[in-house]
Amino acid sequence: MEQYIIRGGNPLAGEVEISGAKNAALGILAAAIMTDDTVLIENLPDVRDINVLLEAMESIGVRVERITRHAVMMNSENIGEVSVDYDYIKRIRASYYLIGALLGKYKKAEVPLPGGCNIGSRPIDLHIKGFRALGAKVDIRNGFIVAQADHLRGSHIFLDTVSVGATINIMMAASMAEGYTIIENCAREPHVVDVANFLNSMGANIKGAGTDVIRIRGVQKLHRTEYSVIPDQIEAGTFMFAAAATKGDITVKNVIPKHLEATTAKLLEIGCEVEEFDNAVRVVASKRLCSTNVKTLPYPGYPTDMQPQIGVALALAKGTSIVTESIFENRFKYMDELTRMGAVVRVEGNTAIITGVEKLSGARVSAPDLRAGAALVIAGLAADGITTIDDIVYIQRGYELFDEKLRSLGAEIEMVHSEKEAQKFRLRCG
Ligand code: EPZ
Repeated sequence: MEQYIIRGGNPLAGEVEISGAKNAALGILAAAIMTDDTVLIENLPDVRDINVLLEAMESIGVRVERITRHAVMMNSENIGEVSVDYDYIKRIRASYYLIGALLGKYKKAEVPLPGGCNIGSRPIDLHIKGFRALGAKVDIRNGFIVAQADHLRGSHIFLDTVSVGATINIMMAASMAEGYTIIENCAREPHVVDVANFLNSMGANIKGAGTDVIRIRGVQKLHRTEYSVIPDQIEAGTFMFAAAATKGDITVKNVIPKHLEATTAKLLEIGCEVEEFDNAVRVVASKRLCSTNVKTLPYPGYPTDMQPQIGVALALAKGTSIVTESIFENRFKYMDELTRMGAVVRVEGNTAIITGVEKLSGARVSAPDLRAGAALVIAGLAADGITTIDDIVYIQRGYELFDEKLRSLGAEIEMVHSEKEAQKFRLRCG
């Protein structure tokens, strides 16, 4: 079983290139099947979630050609069926984006109902509400979502909860519905905007993405396009907090600083220096961090996907901090692991009260989910001694070459495949 093994204590310093945004790329890949023309997508992150979605698309007849490690050419004129195999949705929830895309283009779709995951129950009732509002008949049968429509007609849809997935899925289906659709209370994340821009580059007519009201005039056909995915602001934020927690000096390159505003604001609050450039941000942490309070919110609020990263940094800060997780109901599991490294934390419902300590100590911990796993790597980099992290498959879902990028910043981290390899690392690093 692969593990990361880390000898902590080195301040991380240097520059790191940020990959394409996983959560934008997942929606864009699904939307790409809505044309029969060939589509070129660049700046894809080479991560497990993307590669599994590409496999799922090939399984229904999409022709996928890898041009480079980060670019694919796709053609969907020969999609044979609209039923996605359970094995794919078990491995990646975002396969459910294929419902909106298939329903929009073929007026039918059959995709396994995604299970919950480690951070919460993850319902998709709002997705289904939107598809039904557009005129689709949607049933849950034998664990599948079966959606069908003679015609999709524009509608006025109000999302009860701000939902990235529902906004993107409904936007895709509506882009090929007859007439005009208004979606209210939309998610405003950069990846929602990126999917809308991608659809518009194929000839869709979508306005207002990035605000809470998206207006769509349906079109009959979508055409070829070449498109480059935006940089991943969560990967960037993760490295920014690695600088904060290790008293380092890291410049994240190939980013859009505007997408990082909430993260930057918190880093300044806890005592880091942050310098913004056109497509880079530099974070310097020269002294012990200060405590603060943070509440996760939909964009442009502080991102839930950055909650574990700030939780780790605050575990080392001077004073007591309060972290409130308002999006998901089970996103503090990493705090148990952090406590084993010496953190002083009390979790009460969706709030964590963190009393900062001077130092964490290395331990063997397990990654409970993608972002918490990355945060535990940050904890290991900051801690004294050796930290071993199990279940790193979660981390590999969303971080490309994570250990390699960290080593380029001076981290002593390796991916090991056996106890023997781990022993070698310990002997080498003392
Ligand atoms: C996306 O998940 C991201 N995943 C998540 O990132 C991210 O944490 C989340 O948005 C919030 O920003 C992808 O983009 C692939 P939501 P999504 O629908 O779309 C409730 C990562 O680390 N809800 O915005 O599933 C839901 O329970 C992952 O990369 C409903 O009630 O999240 C939650 O409380 C983790 N009914 C809230 O909305 C619905 O039909 C926000 O969820 C849909 C959602």
